[in-house]
Amino acid sequence: MTDHIKTETRGPVLIAAFNRPDKLNAITRDMALALKAAHESFAADTSLRVMLIRAEGRYFSAGADITGDLLPDPNQTSQTAFRAWYRASTSSLHPMFDAFEACEKPVVVAHQGPCLGGALEMSLSCDYRIASTAATYGLPEIDLGGLPGSGGMSRLTRLVGPAWARWLAVAGETVSAEQALTMGMVQAVHPPERFEAEVMAFCERLAAKPPEAVAAGKLAIEMIADLDRAQGRNVERLTVGSLVMGEEFGRIFSGIKAKMTGRS
Ligand code: COA
Repeated sequence: MTDHIKTETRGPVLIAAFNRPDKLNAITRDMALALKAAHESFAADTSLRVMLIRAEGRYFSAGADITGDLLPDPNQTSQTAFRAWYRASTSSLHPMFDAFEACEKPVVVAHQGPCLGGALEMSLSCDYRIASTAATYGLPEIDLGGLPGSGGMSRLTRLVGPAWARWLAVAGETVSAEQALTMGMVQAVHPPERFEAEVMAFCERLAAKPPEAVAAGKLAIEMIADLDRAQGRNVERLTVGSLVMGEEFGRIFSGIKAKMTGRS
């Protein structure tokens, strides 16, 4: 396994850090596999509540390592094999990104610097994106003659709409952290001097929320985003209905009610 992904546990938070600063954290196949393995162990460990993906160095990541083996080299591979590789969902980054979304526990990503290409696509599959004012965002695939094919068009369009998706993916424009906040692509922006503390504080607050409600809310909102309003409300009623029958809700609600009743 590579040491370009460093993992550590801080209480209920699993931290996975890109650690290849000399190459601007360009993502190799080994790094992608290590990140996938880290997420799988996070998903399986009930003592862990939140996964934080962060990075060391000037860049969050310059995207896929275009010199390495994450992507097949079009000049070394037959056209048929190259197209087949792209079509096969299992050979790309899709399974890992889909697993982030399907997991009932939240994944937070913290961009201390520029976030490009595949790193932005990875980030779009996370639940919470937090930016330093030093972060910028771009999808340079268009300048390589391609397009972002691991969620950079589909997830981005769902998140920010077709106009901004075209701005990034087709026009290849770079946006600042503040602009990303306005677009709804990131949820919070902090100055560099407070960035790490704010990110950790957010992860700790999130990890302290009732886990069953976090899980139900995460999965319900994912579904509701693709439903019409009536169906969305049905999912809402069913989710909350099943949650309030659970032990977690009963215990927390009774405790708060007893406290409030004692006050009156
Ligand atoms: N894949 C592989 N190596 C990369 C890389 C990438 N995506 N991005 C940067 N690097 C490497 C550079 O080759 C360089 O290595 P070296 O010091 O051994 O020569 C090192 O990281 C630093 O990059 P450098 O280009 O010197 O930094 P810069 O500040 O001048 O430019 C970028 C930064 C991001 C503008 C520039 O590196 C770049 O355009 N990278 C490619 C971005 C890209 O197309 N990503 C792919 C998306 S699919």
